[in-house]
Amino acid sequence: MRLKTIDVSSATAKEIQGYLHDAIAPRPICFASTVDKNGAVNLSPFSFFNVASVNPPICVFSVTTRARDNSTKHTLENVLDIPECVINMVHYDMVQQTYLTSADYPKDVNEFAKTGFTELASETVKPPRVAESHIQLECAVNDVISLGKNGGAGNLIIAEVKRMHINADILDANGRIDPHQMDPVARLGGDWYCRVNKANLFKIAKPTDYTGMGIGVDAFPKDVKYSNVLTGNNLGLLALVNTLPTEAEVEAFSKTDEMKELLDVPLDNRSTRLHLKAKDMLENGRVMDAWKVLLINGLIH
Ligand SMILES: Cc1cc2nc3c(=O)[nH]c(=O)nc-3n(C[C@H](O)[C@H](O)[C@H](O)COP(=O)(O)O)c2cc1C
Repeated sequence: MRLKTIDVSSATAKEIQGYLHDAIAPRPICFASTVDKNGAVNLSPFSFFNVASVNPPICVFSVTTRARDNSTKHTLENVLDIPECVINMVHYDMVQQTYLTSADYPKDVNEFAKTGFTELASETVKPPRVAESHIQLECAVNDVISLGKNGGAGNLIIAEVKRMHINADILDANGRIDPHQMDPVARLGGDWYCRVNKANLFKIAKPTDYTGMGIGVDAFPKDVKYSNVLTGNNLGLLALVNTLPTEAEVEAFSKTDEMKELLDVPLDNRSTRLHLKAKDMLENGRVMDAWKVLLINGLIH
C-alpha cells in the first residue's frame, strides 16, 4: 500500500475539510429542529454527529461557522438562546427534502414550510419534531463547546435525550429497531451519500464460546498466521475463539467423511488445500471446524 501523508500545518482549510469529510464516513445525519427566542422554528442537517453517552443518554453534533466568512449558523444561535433541540433521524425516503434545508435560508424562514415536512409538537421541549422521521429524540442542550475561532471551527452541541419517539412499524419482534425497516442514510465526502439496506447489511456473529476476549492472532500457529490463503477477515474470525480444539478433537475430525475425502486424495500441496477448506468453512460460519482443519497440519508434521 502506498500512503499519501498530509501535514495539516501546511494544508489549506479546504483541503483538510475535503479529506476529513471523505475519510470519516459514512456519518449518520442529525436533522435538528431548534427554535429562536421568538419561537421561530429552524430545521437543518448535521453529519458531524454521533451518540456519546448512554447514561446519561447524550448525543453530540457539531455546527461549524461558515468557512467562507466565519458567520454563525442559525442552529447554533438558536441553541445558545433556547438550549433545546429535536434530533430527527433521516431515512432514504426523506433525504432529498432534508437536503433542501441545508440551503442558507434567511432566519425567518421555517424550513418545515420550505420542505413540506410536517411539524409535530414535542412533549418536553419547544422545537417541534419532524413527523415523517422514524426516530425523533427530544433533547435538552447541556453545553455548547466552541472548538476554535476561525471560519469552519466547530461548536460541539451536547444534547441530552429526554424523550424518544420511534415509529413502531420499524421495530422487530423483539422490540429492537430493524435496520432494514429503518432504511437510514448517511453522508460521505463531496456529494456522496449511502443507504443502509439489505444489499449491504451484514452481521458479525459472536462465537458460541465468546467471553469478550478471543485468543488473538499472536496465539496462532505460524502457518496459519502467515497463510497465503486466509484473508484478514478470516484471521479475525479465527482469533475470536477462546480456546483451540484439543488434539483429540482434531484427530477425531480428521477421520470424518468430510475430511477423509480431502486427506485420502494424494495432494501436492496439502497445506494449501486444508487452508482453502478452512476458508470455505469460515465463510459458512463453521469457525471451530475451520480450526480443526487448520490444526490437522500439526498432526501430520
Ligand atoms: C447532509 C448534510 C450534513 C451536514 N452536516 C453539517 C455539519 O455536521 N455541520 C455543519 O456545520 N454543517 C453541516 N451541513 C451544512 C448545514 O446543514 C448548512 O450550513 C445549513 O444551512 C445550516 O442551517 P442553519 O443556518 O439554519 O443552522 C450539512 C449539510 C448537509 C446537506
